[in-house]
Amino acid sequence: MKIGIITGSTRDSRVNLQVAEWVKSIAEKRTDADFELVDIKDYNLPKFNEPITAIMIRDYQASEAKPWSDKIDSLDGFIFVLAEYNKGITSGLKDAIDYLYQEWNNKAAGIVSYGSTLGVSAANDLRLILSVPKVATVGTQVAMNLFTDFQDMSKFNPAPFHQKTVIKLLDEVIAWSTALKTIR
Ligand SMILES: Cc1cc2nc3c(=O)[nH]c(=O)nc-3n(C[C@H](O)[C@H](O)[C@H](O)COP(=O)(O)O)c2cc1C
Repeated sequence: MKIGIITGSTRDSRVNLQVAEWVKSIAEKRTDADFELVDIKDYNLPKFNEPITAIMIRDYQASEAKPWSDKIDSLDGFIFVLAEYNKGITSGLKDAIDYLYQEWNNKAAGIVSYGSTLGVSAANDLRLILSVPKVATVGTQVAMNLFTDFQDMSKFNPAPFHQKTVIKLLDEVIAWSTALKTIR
């Protein structure tokens, strides 16, 4: 199993990468799957402007979409590290999802969110969005508080109990990724 830990924010001053690296440090202790940090910022995807939806055609005009397509295609499951902007996911992550279709199909995902209201609304937003490209989101969720799991809302310092939830989340994502591989 190859699981991608996908960042959910691209702004220069984001805290997202600290959270993604923490998830990766926990995941890397496992031997039942390989984990890779997939930073959407690295792909420099332009604002979505494809003439035809990926649901219809797997051929992209933006040259930046090809490496993004190859990366998502190569993965069996995902952990989305989710920032919440105005009760939803960030536009950068939304575009990154919208670019592709088949590459996401019949794979599993887990959500690690944070925010002043724990990123719960963004997580619910993401679950609905991912239902269209057929990504199954597991029930366990890591939901962290911008005021208590970060110092000064900028330095990530998670409460120790979150680690147990990450492990449970990974268990579920690996189990569902393994199951869904059989129908691809
Ligand atoms: C445009 C904007 C909207 C935001 N809206 C919400 C929100 O609706 N709910 C929430 O919990 N936090 C909200 N926040 C606070 C973010 O959770 C916080 O800024 C966090 O650091 C964002 O993640 P990032 O630093 O990785 O980009 C918002 C932040 C921004 C910049």
